[in-house]
Amino acid sequence: MRGFIIKGGTPLAGEVIIDGAKNAALGILAGSLLTDDDVIIENIPDVSDINLMIKAIGNTGARVDRLDAHSVKINCSTIETYALDNDDIGKMRGSYYFIGALLGKYKQASVAFPGGCDIGSRPIDQHIKGFEALGANIKVESGIIEASTKELKGNHIYLDSPSVGATINIMLAAVLAKGQTIIENPAKEPHIVDVANFLNSMGGNVKGAGTDVIRIKGAERLHGSTYSIIPDQIEAGTYMIAAAATRGDVVIKNIIPKHLEAISAKLVEIGAEIEESDDSIRVVATKRLSHTNVKTLPYPGFPTDMQPQISTLLALSEGTSIVTETIFDNRFKFVDELARMGAHVKVEGNSAIIEGVDRLSNARIYAPDLRAGAALVIAGLATEGITTVQQIEYIERGYERFDEKLRGLGAAIAIVNVDDSNEVEKFKLRIV
Ligand code: EPZ
Repeated sequence: MRGFIIKGGTPLAGEVIIDGAKNAALGILAGSLLTDDDVIIENIPDVSDINLMIKAIGNTGARVDRLDAHSVKINCSTIETYALDNDDIGKMRGSYYFIGALLGKYKQASVAFPGGCDIGSRPIDQHIKGFEALGANIKVESGIIEASTKELKGNHIYLDSPSVGATINIMLAAVLAKGQTIIENPAKEPHIVDVANFLNSMGGNVKGAGTDVIRIKGAERLHGSTYSIIPDQIEAGTYMIAAAATRGDVVIKNIIPKHLEAISAKLVEIGAEIEESDDSIRVVATKRLSHTNVKTLPYPGFPTDMQPQISTLLALSEGTSIVTETIFDNRFKFVDELARMGAHVKVEGNSAIIEGVDRLSNARIYAPDLRAGAALVIAGLATEGITTVQQIEYIERGYERFDEKLRGLGAAIAIVNVDDSNEVEKFKLRIV
């Protein structure tokens, strides 16, 4: 089976360049369905979730021209179907944005229920609440979400929880609705702002994204746009933690430091050194770091998508830490894999009590989901000797050229068939 093979124990050093934000690109790609004009989207990450999304847009009959690994030109005037219900759609989370976009533009959609990482129950009741408030009829049957209406009319929508997906989906549906839509208690993540900026670049009227109230004035139509995606805050944060866990010295480039404030603050709190500049951040850790407590919260709080990574770092830090996961109800599955490497972590309810150890031991481990998989690679990088991480398809959903970028920082990591002893031996010979 394909996996990462890692010879850990080397501090990461050098520079790494961050790609575009996956969770912004998913909403923005779906948003390209809202116009009949050409849309060019730049700085998209070349990762499997994005490539699946682009393929799904092509399957509707839209014209899709992949200009290069990081940019695509889309024209949806030739769409032949409003039904996206094949297996690919059910594999990823971001496919639910097709409902908002198709409903917004064509007043109908038939989309397979979304998949995504198995990190707990992931209902879409808030999305449906938003669509129904705009006048859509929603039917969920045999894994398909059917949405339709004669007309979408703006409304005042109060989200029960600041859902990222629901906030983006309601913006996609409301941007062409008649009248004004107000979204109270929206998510405020950087990718919400990016989607709103994209819609405004097409002639939309979306105000207040990133604040507690979003106001949308329905436009008659949207025109084409050329838009560049913001850098990925979670990819950047992952490399920050990797630098700290390996006691390295890494400059993470092409980032927006403000988006990383919660992560930087935690790293400083436990003894890492952080140097910020306009579009880069340097992380240095020369000694063993200390314990702290972390609670994941909606932005600008500590991101849930960074929870496995900081938990792994704290498993190697001095003292006992408590990490509380308030967003998802099953996001500690990776703890079992860490325990196989000798970590002392006890999960009680939605908290992990982490007793730091000064070193982990090598093991053959399995990525349970995207962010946990990246965290387990960090564990391998911080551990002397050979560690293998399998099920790396999860990691490839959201990290572009993860092994290549880590090798650029001095890591000994490669993709091999971990069951092929010749490939494993060749790797060991190559790195001695
Ligand atoms: C998005 O998922 C991201 N995925 C997730 O990133 C991220 O962890 C999450 O936002 C939170 O930041 C994409 O953008 C594709 P939510 P989403 O709606 O939209 C509950 C990654 O690693 N909820 O903010 O599914 C839900 O169950 C992925 O890139 C409802 O109850 O997140 C969860 O407990 C993993 N009803 C919480 O809210 C709803 O209608 C947050 O969900 C919607 C959500």
